[in-house]
Amino acid sequence: SYDWYRQMRETQPVFFDPNIQGWHIFRYDDVVRVITEHATFSSEQNRFVPAEYRDVNPISSSIVRLDPPRHHKLRQLVSQAFTPRMVANMESRIKEITSGLLDQVQAVGEMDVIRDLATPLPITVIAELLGVPAERREDFKRWSDAFVSGDAEATEEDMQEGIQAAGSMVDYFAQIFEERRAHPQDDLVSALLLAEVDGERLSNEELIGFCVLLLVAGNETTTNLIGNTILCLDENPGSVERLRANRDLVPKALEEALRYYSPVKLVPRWAVTETTIGDQRIEAGQLLFAWVPSANRDEAQFPNADQFTIEREPNRHLGFGRGIHFCLGAPLARLEAKIALNEMLDRLPGSWHVSDVPLSPIKSMSAFGVKQLPLTWE
Ligand code: HEM
Repeated sequence: SYDWYRQMRETQPVFFDPNIQGWHIFRYDDVVRVITEHATFSSEQNRFVPAEYRDVNPISSSIVRLDPPRHHKLRQLVSQAFTPRMVANMESRIKEITSGLLDQVQAVGEMDVIRDLATPLPITVIAELLGVPAERREDFKRWSDAFVSGDAEATEEDMQEGIQAAGSMVDYFAQIFEERRAHPQDDLVSALLLAEVDGERLSNEELIGFCVLLLVAGNETTTNLIGNTILCLDENPGSVERLRANRDLVPKALEEALRYYSPVKLVPRWAVTETTIGDQRIEAGQLLFAWVPSANRDEAQFPNADQFTIEREPNRHLGFGRGIHFCLGAPLARLEAKIALNEMLDRLPGSWHVSDVPLSPIKSMSAFGVKQLPLTWE
């Protein structure tokens, strides 16, 4: 929690944890170093973790777990298919989906922000972008949940569920690829199948890894960004009215929510060579966990870091990472959250009230958000 982060930043900012045989990194400057200096801190889990201890999920063979030069090549390839322009073209469709979801809650007069908007919106959008039927979105949700449920307290059952989810997802995409190879469509999967760099295409494993990464990375994180933003507004009375009066503040509020309640908690890296961080010596091969929410509350970088300040400037938060692995989905996540928040401001009048019942955080080591978020308005 945030108390723990603060205590660690102050007392043991570079901390060796015997349980993971690796390091926890808490300060902004150190987190920046660990996530950006890719020659020293590798993202290639497969190089450092014995096969039996690796993540079972196909994400481990996607770009987020690769170093240059392969990372560069793959990122170029997928960037051809997943362009900011393509995202901008989604704007009217995202509005339509959001509006449809809000029609339903308006009729009821109350909502669970997570269940009724923050979950279905990104799933529907990414399913449509990829070109996979949105009717399967219950499956996507189940598969992504099974992946992220693997935390320190994960039971054998959770792990088995994760392995099974991975298997179902791989089978599902193998079938989609076959269909699109035979009949290309105007969608991301077809574009990915056709993209090439230096006459080279993505391998089947890389294709699946990327699609699964999009489904998982694109869902849970965007859901939590929307939910966490509503939490921030609720904890700071008057914010909703300010945003309603000045819509230019909406993107700023989202950036500040990314800083204040970062949806991604930790980013892993492996030391390639022996190095030092602060006064600690890191051995080659050791695992490092860079704690994004801690970096984002570091007073050395953010004055009044524990205060949610909509107009914070500068706001060089690390919510989307930094450097060569900077989130490829950032334009899409920002656009979806902006539309969701603007539509809510338009259609849910008066002041908003989040339920007084204590909210339970989702059970995950790497993601931050709440399970439910009941909201009423006037
Ligand atoms: C990478 C956060 C939404 C796709 C990352 C990284 C972070 C992040 C912190 C860097 C990981 C690292 O350095 O190892 C977020 C947050 C989101 C979000 C907070 C929502 C608010 C999305 C969406 C998509 C997406 C919607 C796609 C649909 C990716 C991809 C990468 C990535 C493909 C890997 C880029 C690379 O390795 O070059 N994201 N993400 N993300 N994200 Fe996101």
